[in-house]
Amino acid sequence: MKDFIDLRSDTVTKPTPTMRKAMVEAEVGDDVFGEDPTVNALQEKVASLLGKEAALFVPSGTMANQLSIKSHTQPGDEVIIEASSHPYNFEGGAGAALSGIQFQCLKGSRGILDASQIEESIRPADHHFAVTRLICLENTHNRGGGSIYPLEKMAEINRLAKSKELFVHLDGARLWNASVATGIKPQEYAQWADSVSVCLSKGLGAPIGSLVAGSKEFIDRVHRFRKMFGGGMRQVGIIAAAGIYALDHHLERLKEDHQNAKRLGVGLKEFKGVSIDPKHVETNIVIFDVANTKMTATQLADAMRKEGVLIHAFGKMQIRLVTHLDVTAEDIEKVLKAFKKVFR
Ligand SMILES: Cc1ncc(COP(=O)(O)O)c(C=O)c1O
Repeated sequence: MKDFIDLRSDTVTKPTPTMRKAMVEAEVGDDVFGEDPTVNALQEKVASLLGKEAALFVPSGTMANQLSIKSHTQPGDEVIIEASSHPYNFEGGAGAALSGIQFQCLKGSRGILDASQIEESIRPADHHFAVTRLICLENTHNRGGGSIYPLEKMAEINRLAKSKELFVHLDGARLWNASVATGIKPQEYAQWADSVSVCLSKGLGAPIGSLVAGSKEFIDRVHRFRKMFGGGMRQVGIIAAAGIYALDHHLERLKEDHQNAKRLGVGLKEFKGVSIDPKHVETNIVIFDVANTKMTATQLADAMRKEGVLIHAFGKMQIRLVTHLDVTAEDIEKVLKAFKKVFR
C-alpha cells in the first residue's frame, strides 16, 4: 500500500513516529480496575472538551454508538434516525441485535434532519405503537458528504426532544471536523445531546479508540454495558496515549484536510460528466456522481488504482473521497492529474 495515495477513508492513517513514541512511553495500569492513568487522563480530557460530566474509552465508534443506544433504551423502543446514518446502515444490525430496538428512518437533506419532520414521526402514546425513546444525529454526516449539522438545528431538535421526554444521541465520529470547520467548540455542539460518541481513529490519526460522553449516571450505565459487550480492556493506556497525542497535535491540522477536500471538489467539477457541487464539500469528505461519465464507480476506482490512487465506490455511480493526515496538498494535485488521465 506504500506507494498508493489512499483516499478511501480517514481511518487508513498510520500512527506517526512521535505518536508511537508517546504510546511506548505511556504510563499504564489495569483499566478494568480503573487504574490506567493514561486512560483516565484521556477520559477527563474528552469529557472536558465535550462539556460533559464523564467519558468512557471504548474500542470503536460502533461500540460507542451501540452502547449509547443500549443505555438510553429498552427492548421494543423506537429510535428516530436519518436513513443514511452510520448506526442504522453500517453497524451490522447491532441496534436490533444488541438493544432490541427498532429504527424509524427519516430522509434528511445530506443527512441533516429538521425538528419538524422529527416531530411528525414521534409515536403517539398508544399501545399499538413502539415507544419513541431516542433521536440519533450524526455530525459531520458521513454519507451526507461530511455535512455539518447547523448548531441551531441541533438546538431545535434538542428542545423538541426535551418537550417530548426523549433522549438525543450524537454520533460525533467526526465532530472534530465540524468544530474545526466552523470554529464552534465541540462542547457547543455537545450541549444539545445527552450522549456523544467521538472517534480518535478517523481524521485525528490514532490507530484505535472512541469515547462516549454524557452525565456521570449515564456513563455508569454505559460502563456496565461495555463490560457486558466485552469492551473492557486492560493496560490500554498504550492506545489512549495515541488519543491524547492526537487531540494535542492533530486537531487544528484538520483544516488542511478540509482545504485538500475543497481543492478536490473544485478540480473534479472540471471533468465532463462528473456531478459535484464544490460548495457541498464542507469538511474532509467529497462525494461525486459519475452517472454521466463513461464509467461506473467501480470502473473508475479500478482505473484510478492503476494510477496509484485508491478511492471508494459508494454505490453504482457514486464515489467517496476522504482526505486525512497521510495525504498532502501535493498528493491532491497528483490525484487530480490521475483523474484527468482516466477521464480522457
Ligand atoms: C459517522 C460514523 N460513525 C461511526 C463510525 C464507526 O466507527 P468504527 O469504524 O470505529 O466502528 C464511523 C466509521 O467510519 C462513522 O463514519
